[in-house]
Amino acid sequence: MAREFTTVGVIGLGTMGSGIVEVFARNGVDVVAIEADGEALERGKAHVEQSTGRAVARGKLSEADQAALIGRITFATDMADLAEVDLVVEAVPEHLDLKRQIFSALDDIVKPEAVLATNTSSLSVTEISVATHNPRRVVGMHFFNPAPVLGFVEVIRTVVTEDDVVADVSDLAKRLGKQPVVVGDKAGFIANALLFGYLNHAVSMYESRYASREDIDAAMTLGCGLPMGPLALMDLIGLDTAYEILDTMYKQGRDRLHAPTPILKQMVTAGFKGRKSGRGFYTYVEPGSSKVTDDGAAAHVAGVGASPRPVRRVGVVGSGTMATGIVEVLAKGGYDVVFVARSSDKTATVSAALTRSLEKAVQRGKLSEADRDAALARVAGTTSLDDLGDVDLVVEAVVEDLAVKQALFSNLDDICKPGAVLATTTSSLPVIECAAATRRPADVVGLHFFNPAPVMRLVEVVHTVSTAADVVATAIQVCEQLGRHPVSCADRSGFIVNALLFPYLNDAVKMLEAHYATTDAIDTAMKTGCGYPMGPFELLDVVGLDVALAIERELYLEFRERGLAPAPLLEQLVTAGYLGRKTGRGFHTYP
Ligand SMILES: NC(=O)c1ccc[n+]([C@@H]2O[C@H](COP(=O)([O-])OP(=O)(O)OC[C@H]3O[C@@H](n4cnc5c(N)ncnc54)[C@H](O)[C@@H]3O)[C@@H](O)[C@H]2O)c1
Repeated sequence: MAREFTTVGVIGLGTMGSGIVEVFARNGVDVVAIEADGEALERGKAHVEQSTGRAVARGKLSEADQAALIGRITFATDMADLAEVDLVVEAVPEHLDLKRQIFSALDDIVKPEAVLATNTSSLSVTEISVATHNPRRVVGMHFFNPAPVLGFVEVIRTVVTEDDVVADVSDLAKRLGKQPVVVGDKAGFIANALLFGYLNHAVSMYESRYASREDIDAAMTLGCGLPMGPLALMDLIGLDTAYEILDTMYKQGRDRLHAPTPILKQMVTAGFKGRKSGRGFYTYVEPGSSKVTDDGAAAHVAGVGASPRPVRRVGVVGSGTMATGIVEVLAKGGYDVVFVARSSDKTATVSAALTRSLEKAVQRGKLSEADRDAALARVAGTTSLDDLGDVDLVVEAVVEDLAVKQALFSNLDDICKPGAVLATTTSSLPVIECAAATRRPADVVGLHFFNPAPVMRLVEVVHTVSTAADVVATAIQVCEQLGRHPVSCADRSGFIVNALLFPYLNDAVKMLEAHYATTDAIDTAMKTGCGYPMGPFELLDVVGLDVALAIERELYLEFRERGLAPAPLLEQLVTAGYLGRKTGRGFHTYP
C-alpha cells in the first residue's frame, strides 16, 4: 500500500527549504517547518509570507488561500516536533557532517515507517543514509530553485533505498505538480552535473576579465534563450552553496573543470553569497531581493571611451544564410549595402531571398511598404570585390575555411580605403588569423552574428590583441544602430556562447554514454529543472552533430583541457551519418 504523506517535516528554511515548505502547503499537505534558532525561523517564515504574498499580488493565489496555506505550516525550532510526520525533507547547508548529524538525530525522533529525504544537490545520499539505523528508508528528493516555480524533482535512489520508498516519493512529487526522474547516487545527479561545469566556466571567464558579467549573462540569455545568465543564476543559487557543490563534484570526479574557480572562495569568505546576502556577482537593493542596483562595478568593456568611426556604407561578402541575413539587418538599419557574391546567379539568389523576407515582414505588419522599398533601394549586389573600395565597414560571411578567409582579407587590404573597418563573422576561427593577413590588423574585428540574423539580437564583438579601441567602438555602435545587443569579448575559441554551450552539450553526451540517464530524462531535467528552452539532445539534433563535433574539437585544441575532449559517442554518431534533424536521425529519430 502506498504511503499517504499527509504531514511532512522540512528542516532548514533557507533559499530552498522555505520554497519547499510553500510547495507542500500549497498542495494541501501539513508541514512542520524546523529551523536552527528563533531568528532563522522568523526569517524563514518571512520568506514564505513574502513569496506567497507575491503570488497574491500577481493574482495567482487568493488571500483566503494564502491564509489557509500558511495555516497548514507549524513553525518550530525543536526537531522533536517531527515525531508524527510521514516524511522529512532536509534542506540545511551543503555540509556532509551537518546532514549526517541531523539524519542520525531524526532516526530516534520520527516514526519507524517515516521516509527521510535529503534535498542535497551533490553530497552522497548513501553517506547521509548510513548515519541512520535504517538506510533503506532514506532517499534524495532534489527540488529546483525556485522550488515553487520549477516543475522538476530528482529522486535519488541509493543501492539500499527500498523500491516502495522511491515509488512513493515519486508519486508524491507528481502530486505536488512536479515531474520526477529517478536517478542513482552520483554527485550533481543529472541537472547539476551538467549545469555546474558551465556555471564554473562562466565564473572563470569573469575572473579572467575575458568578458564583463553583464556581457556573459546577456550572451547566454540572448544567444541560447536561457531564462537567466550564469552569473545571475550563481547569485540566485547562493555562492556558498555553489562552492560546496563544485567542491563535492570535483572531489568525486577529479575533473579540473569542476574545481571551484578561486574567486568563488574569495567572495564567499568576504560574505558575498549572492542574492541572499545582498551581494554576489551583482549588488542587490537589499538581502533577499532580486532587484539589481548600480554598484559602479559594471563592465570594463573594450572600446568604451573611444569615438566610433563614421559608418554609412557597408560591404557584405558572401551569399549564404548568414550573409543574406546580415544584408537584410543592415538594410533595415538604414545602411547602404553592397554585397559581393561569386556569380551573378548568387547575387540574384540573395536579392530574391531578401525581397521574400522583407515581403513576409510587410505581410505580418512588422514593416511598412515604404520601409521595405527604402531598404531594397539601399542594397546592391555585385560580383566584384573591387566595388568595396569606398565602404566604411566590410562584414565577411564566406565559408568557414581559414585559407579562404585569409585570402579574402588580404584582398580587402588592397581594395578598401584607409580607415575602413574589416569584420569577420567567423564562429570558430581565430579573428587574429584574419587580421594578420592584412597590413592593418588594428582595423580588424569579429562580428559574430547568430542564425537567423534577422531574428537573433545577440552579436559577439570580438577584439584581438591588435584591434584598435575605436574599431571596437565602431562595431558596437553599428550593432546598436541595428537594434542588436552587442557583447564584447576577446579572441578565444568559441567566444562566449559556444565556449559555454558546447562543453555542456558534450557533458550531456558523456552522461548518456555512461548510462546514468536516458536522453529523455536528461532533456527533461534541463527543460523542467533549469527552464531551458530545449534539452541538450534536442539542441544537438537541431545544431547538427557534425557541427557540434567540429566546434568541440576546436575548443579542445585551443584549451587542451581533458574535460573538453569530444565524447566518443558523438564521434561515432557522426561517423555513422546520424547528424540530427537534417538526416532524420541523431540522438532522436525524426519522421
Ligand atoms: N540553492 C539552490 O539553488 C539549491 C537547489 C537545490 C538544492 N539545494 C540544496 O538545498 C540545501 C539547502 O541549500 P540552501 O541554498 O537552501 O541553503 P541556505 O543557506 O539558503 O539555507 C540553509 C538553512 O538551513 C538552516 N540550518 C542550518 N543548520 C540547521 C539545523 N541544524 N537545523 C535546522 N536548520 C538549519 C540555516 O539557518 C538556513 O536557513 C543544500 O543541501 C543545497 O545543496 C540548493
